[in-house]
Amino acid sequence: MKVLVIGAGGREHALSYKLNDSELVDTVYAIPGSEAMNNVATSISDIKEDDHEGILNFAKDHEVEWVVIGPEQPLTEGLADTLREAGIKVFGPNKAAAQIEGSKSFAKRIMEKYDIPTADYKEIDNKADAMAYVRDCDVPVVLKKDGLAAGKGVIIANTRDEAVEAVEAMYQEREDSKVVFEAFLEGEEFSLMTFVNGDYAVPFSCIAQDHKRAFDNDEGPNTGGMGAYCPVPHIKDEVLRETNDKIAQPIAKAMQAEGYDYFGLLYIGAILTAEGPKVIEFNARFGDPEAQVLLKRMDSDLMQHILDLEAKAPIDMEWKDASVVGVMLASKGYPGAYEKGVKVSGFEDNSDFFVSGLKKDGDDYVTSGGRVILALGEGSDIKEAKAKAYDNVEKIKSDGLFYRKDISDKALRNG
Ligand code: AMP
Ligand code: GLY
Repeated sequence: MKVLVIGAGGREHALSYKLNDSELVDTVYAIPGSEAMNNVATSISDIKEDDHEGILNFAKDHEVEWVVIGPEQPLTEGLADTLREAGIKVFGPNKAAAQIEGSKSFAKRIMEKYDIPTADYKEIDNKADAMAYVRDCDVPVVLKKDGLAAGKGVIIANTRDEAVEAVEAMYQEREDSKVVFEAFLEGEEFSLMTFVNGDYAVPFSCIAQDHKRAFDNDEGPNTGGMGAYCPVPHIKDEVLRETNDKIAQPIAKAMQAEGYDYFGLLYIGAILTAEGPKVIEFNARFGDPEAQVLLKRMDSDLMQHILDLEAKAPIDMEWKDASVVGVMLASKGYPGAYEKGVKVSGFEDNSDFFVSGLKKDGDDYVTSGGRVILALGEGSDIKEAKAKAYDNVEKIKSDGLFYRKDISDKALRNG
């Protein structure tokens, strides 16, 4: 069959790589894709991600059977709805269901109503009330913008002064912005990808851990993700089971009970507190860079899993007997301002690298985004996988990139 991946980043590179590996799949197209993805897909770069009609026409003209939507933007803008209405199968939730990611307040309300463990919260929609709130709330406090923010709409204020500053920042553009104020949770974070079809939810039997902060030792600002690894040996299977029982199954049932028809991948960003796992965030799609390490480790057929999900049949995921570590190389300055157009080489046509932010300029690749390239390493344990990942980092030649040196160290410390 022919499948079409929507998106142009490292996650979509990994999805294309994995679908291209499937015996069920003959052709993988990517819209818009990128030149660097053409080792595993045919990129159609003259159609844009937000051109829903263009995507629909392409899918019809090329007899695409399944469309796999990578990023959140097209999901929250209703691309899945447009394609499904025309009879094309889509892996990814419709616009209404994608609110679980698109609106923090939607997600918090549904968790509150269905007793799904998460931080206590208050929703405030004007600056004056927000200032009054932070004058006597507990600190640290976490402020979250309501809409999509590419992992950058969250401020953790450790002191009251920081909380006041954070309110100034959140309401800088509009004094009537909707902001969720959350209690600060302590514990270790992990990411659980879950296949969801209505009330049928099947979590991945392997979790991953992201590294959200820009710099080593979890310092610096939040980013889209600076590296990931899997499995996470120090977070035990019983935590995965508890996350399934208390979060994955109840949220699928809650969404269905509320009339949302969820079909696709639900990302559970969880934190393991002293009271058990709690939800930090839901995403309506695979995590990036979690997808890259998980799909690299997955030994079974992703396309078969999507078909099994559609049929609500058992999903038997198999994993390589190996650990995978991925280190993100990002443009110097990211997540703040950064230069584009810096030359990068050393990764070409090699599935040890998934590319997020590069484009061709003549014969060279140059940077076109904040997160640029994920270097992967596979090994018999995390230590070996980490060493291989950093060996691959060394293969990248560029003056414009930086990366964290401590990806997967939490596993090594706790192992
Ligand atoms: P989010 O975009 O909601 O995933 O938040 C980004 C990051 O902020 C998370 O990965 C956490 O590291 C941190 N964070 C968000 N909410 C909380 C919370 N309630 N307590 C502690 N840390 C949080
Ligand atoms: N890596 C976190 C995310 O994809 O939102």
